Amino acid sequence: MDKEKIGLILSEIEKYDAGNPESIEQFRVHYLGKKGILKSLYAQLKNTSPETKKELGLLINSVRAAVETKLQSLNEKESAGAEKTDGKDLTRPGENLEMGTRHPISIVKNEMIDILKEVGFMVSEGPEIETDWHNFTALNIPKHHPARDMQDTFFVQTNPDILLRTHTSPQQIRVMESTAPPIRIICPGRVYRNETISARSHCIFHQIEGLYIDKDVSFVDLKQTLYFFATKMFGKKTKIRFRPSYFPFTEPSAEMDISCLICKGTGCPVCKNSGWVEILGCGMVDPAVLDNCKIDSTQFTGFAFGLGIERPAMLKYRINDIRMFYENDVRFLSQFVSA
Ligand code: PHE
Repeated sequence: MDKEKIGLILSEIEKYDAGNPESIEQFRVHYLGKKGILKSLYAQLKNTSPETKKELGLLINSVRAAVETKLQSLNEKESAGAEKTDGKDLTRPGENLEMGTRHPISIVKNEMIDILKEVGFMVSEGPEIETDWHNFTALNIPKHHPARDMQDTFFVQTNPDILLRTHTSPQQIRVMESTAPPIRIICPGRVYRNETISARSHCIFHQIEGLYIDKDVSFVDLKQTLYFFATKMFGKKTKIRFRPSYFPFTEPSAEMDISCLICKGTGCPVCKNSGWVEILGCGMVDPAVLDNCKIDSTQFTGFAFGLGIERPAMLKYRINDIRMFYENDVRFLSQFVSA
């Protein structure tokens, strides 16, 4: 062994460059491993004459130092390379994405829409900020008519002609004003009433209103449509009943009850022991409303119905406080799974 040979080894180390972690490891083993170059150099040192031993020993130590420095710089280069991928470790296992859930109101709304689509209704949506004309006057509720008190209204700023719609009927007016019959639409959406918030009522809620206008539409069509809807929505055994009622925009008017889903009609706190739960208002469109929308009421008749979404959703999921729908508590919302 001589200085020259060690010089060669040193320049070899100097020039070495590794492209990946495996070749860095090979380099390390090649020089520092059990059968590596350094081991053999130290072994050869034993047989060297005492005069050169010291000098050679120092040189071998410098080989070890060179290898260590090289290793350090190779490793630094390697981890800097990993940072080039924006600090992302592409070999890390993926994180599970948390799936969102649909809001229970949307689930029930979509279910209702799907059923009504089956019998030919098309969805039509309209603005939540409405005019007095669409929300009241065209619906046969003139100014100062006591029927306005049935729906406590939020007005927009100080303009009494602009308001938050109290039902989705104004969208039916918009469609009747712009479309010639036959008309067969459902209008789902959010509505607002200035009511005291409690477990049973809220100032925001949702409705789906249906409207069918054609020649010879009668109360029989209304009943059959709603019967189809109720049995599809709440189960084959569901019974329905109609009670006479009053709405300014329908004549005759009725309210429809279904047999209580909880006690199956035998009486429980939900149906206040009556066995029946009211779910919608309906009736034959008042000819005055058709005239307001320039539809010839001597030729056409129609029926309309208005259905809340909250109450059926509360029955379906046994929710006993309407406020839960609007609190956005994830523990509540994540329980609902839609098809
Ligand atoms: N618009 C009525 C309401 O919100 C419901 C309804 C619609 C009643 C259609 C009869 C016919 O109270």
